[in-house]
Amino acid sequence: MGMMEWSWVLLMGLVMGLFWYKKKMDRMENKKGVPKGNLGWPLIGETLDFIASGYSSRPVSFMDKRKFLYGEVFKTHILGTPIIVSTDPEVNKVVLQNQGNIFFPAYPKSIRELLGDHSILQMNGSLHRRVHALIGGFLRSPQFKARITRDIENLVKFTLASWQGMINPVLVQEETKKITFQILVKVLLSVGPGEDLNFLKREFEEFIKGLICLPIKLPGTRLHKSLKAKERLLKMVRKIVEERKLAMETSEGDGGKGVANDAVDVLLRDNGEANEKQSLTLDLISGNIIEMMIPGEETVPTAMTLAVYFLTHCPTALNQLKEENMKLKMEKMDSGEDYSWTDYMSSPFTQNVISETLRLANIINAVWRKAQRDIEIKGNLIPKGWCVLASFTSVHMDDQIYQNPYHFDPWRWEKLGAAVNNNNFTPFGGGQRLCPGLELSRLEISIFLHHLVTSYQWVAQEDNIVYFPTVKMKRKMPITVTPVCNHQ
Ligand code: HEM
Repeated sequence: MGMMEWSWVLLMGLVMGLFWYKKKMDRMENKKGVPKGNLGWPLIGETLDFIASGYSSRPVSFMDKRKFLYGEVFKTHILGTPIIVSTDPEVNKVVLQNQGNIFFPAYPKSIRELLGDHSILQMNGSLHRRVHALIGGFLRSPQFKARITRDIENLVKFTLASWQGMINPVLVQEETKKITFQILVKVLLSVGPGEDLNFLKREFEEFIKGLICLPIKLPGTRLHKSLKAKERLLKMVRKIVEERKLAMETSEGDGGKGVANDAVDVLLRDNGEANEKQSLTLDLISGNIIEMMIPGEETVPTAMTLAVYFLTHCPTALNQLKEENMKLKMEKMDSGEDYSWTDYMSSPFTQNVISETLRLANIINAVWRKAQRDIEIKGNLIPKGWCVLASFTSVHMDDQIYQNPYHFDPWRWEKLGAAVNNNNFTPFGGGQRLCPGLELSRLEISIFLHHLVTSYQWVAQEDNIVYFPTVKMKRKMPITVTPVCNHQ
């Protein structure tokens, strides 16, 4: 066949492909009750507009524009999939609560490959409920919080002290990661500073580089390298889990019935419901220990960094935060008592600063789910097989809910009440998959802020927030830190 004929075949193929695609889209679109909206161009849909607004200083403008045109729930086509977007807190609540297990998490293919089917982030049904309840129960328990408070304090003080000797400005976004990764590893598998921790950090960083990449598994590709890093991580974690199991079985003492020290203990000790009587497999436990690092690794340091950023630009809030925390510090110095986790968590202004930071930062801006069957929510049909995106940012930045939403205003929480996880405030998600690290995160941020503002002052260099693909500071938030004299 000559050039001419080939061109014809290609052109015909393209036309037929587009025709088939349009028919498929029309069928989906024309189902009665599917929300209004625009599926954009064939294949790319409205992705370009979505990404462009992600790179702007108002990433929510993509949602706002469509909310104005079509209503609070609309359809679009982004990142290769037709999707129904909800900016309505009540619809989001139904999606998050997920009565009847209609929605499954929907991650891009590269993430699905790296997680594996038995990750807490991907599993569904009774096994998910079991693992979620075990981890959540452990992280929420007062014994755990009392114990981890000491570890966090020591790490925070040590890290802050090391900032003083630095010649160059401190990059808050990098430095806070040192604190939070060590806490995470301690919480999950009790590994302290040393070679093992360094190995975990190195391999974990290699592993997560592949979370957003082309889903091609050939040697040399990003995904392949990340999967190899996961294999190395699994080997090490599996060894720790096996040793722990052996120690539990052979220990004369409590035989593993005493207080659980970390997530490995919690998962190993569980025998399931009386009627199931089945332990979780060592592979499932080892995999989940690694996978549970993913949602904790970047989120907490980002929240700490953005709190420093917002406070830098709001001296009145910084002063009030200092006042509240100095008062606590003086009380502790006078009484000679240690801090308890409740001291930190019940400092009202500090908690309001954290809530306001989480609202404005939108570290997890939305969750993606896929409907397993047709479901109607508030008159909107979400057909089987469609993805739904519950947008948290749209709600957090809605001026009908939060007056002057782009303004950092911790005082708004005095009027709005305690930062309860209601429908209008979901930085940690909600319902079935509510973040089990919610209280641990707040505790870590509170302790960090307490020691930072009561012992140091800082001067920040110019920096800006970027929102795409994830929230972070453009220049990693460079600051120069000096100690303050507290002897008043
Ligand atoms: C500021 C810090 C954090 C934020 C904003 C955050 C946010 C979230 C959100 C929005 C979800 C829900 C995801 C969904 O519905 O699909 C989630 C789930 C989760 N988070 Fe966090 N998180 C934070 C810190 C942590 C920490 C420190 C840990 C670990 C100890 C953690 C562990 C998890 C786990 C295991 C899940 C999955 C729960 C499940 O699917 O059952 N998170 N997080």
